[in-house]
Amino acid sequence: MIDILRTADEVRARVRAIHRKGQRLALVPTMGALHEGHLSLVREGRRLAEVCAASIFVNPAQFGPREDLSRYPRDEAGDVAKCASAGAAFVWAPDTREVYPEGYQTYVEVSELSRRWCGEKRPGHFRGVATVVAKLFCAFEPDVALFGEKDFQQLAVIRRMVRDLGMAVEVVGMPIVREADGLALSSRNIYLSATERRSALGLSRALQAAAHLKANGETSASRLVEAASAELRAADARVDYVAVVDPTTLEPMDLVDRPARMLIAAHVGKTRLIDNAAL
Ligand code: PAJ
Repeated sequence: MIDILRTADEVRARVRAIHRKGQRLALVPTMGALHEGHLSLVREGRRLAEVCAASIFVNPAQFGPREDLSRYPRDEAGDVAKCASAGAAFVWAPDTREVYPEGYQTYVEVSELSRRWCGEKRPGHFRGVATVVAKLFCAFEPDVALFGEKDFQQLAVIRRMVRDLGMAVEVVGMPIVREADGLALSSRNIYLSATERRSALGLSRALQAAAHLKANGETSASRLVEAASAELRAADARVDYVAVVDPTTLEPMDLVDRPARMLIAAHVGKTRLIDNAAL
């Protein structure tokens, strides 16, 4: 079995040894409850670098007061076994005090990209994400870090942070891994009852409906949003937002005459789900 490190000092010692051997290091940050989406990142990390490590940390700073921090699924032993089988060399699973010691007060804020969409619906969320990812990059100093396009706004925020702070890490975005019926894999899918699981399909169906319309010549963002929203309503999913955005700035588009991304967030029962696709 691979090593589970607990402190940042242990990580730094391990990373020094890797760099001394002239090896490259890839990092896959996660909150655990790992599935094939996460493991696709580990496998790609292994392809891009000699050594791939994963972190498992349910980051309190990115959860709002009424969100699911306390019930977020946790299975450390299972997660570490999955990381090992996907080719990770070690895992960092710190406790909260290790990441946020007594008196902690330093945060990273990516202002513009965090403003809309999930940033608006989850105040403080991206500040928590950017902060913890910056801390992970400080501990690991990875050559490459891999993130999923599943969290499209998060990926944009992290790319911007790396550019703005001049961090020496290459950020790699990876495609969304889906179930056979289209549902994007998510640690939160285990919250879904059988009925809710059917409603959850509304998100990928909505994206497909919009992409289909777009392929048939529709260029009005509002009509694409309306078609997607209708699919969500038909599936009994409650729309949080549906947007057609510029893939880099995440600003809304009116006329889809160049590459665009549709972003969706919706509630199914008590569970909030997100998905997105290129249009
Ligand atoms: P978590 O939700 O555990 O996701 C970890 C990484 O896996 C993210 O980069 C996410 O985009 C990716 N991922 C999740 N589901 C995926 C899927 N179906 N296909 C492809 N990739 C997928 O995102 C976080 O954790 C946290 O915000 C974190 C970055 C670790 C900071 O705390």
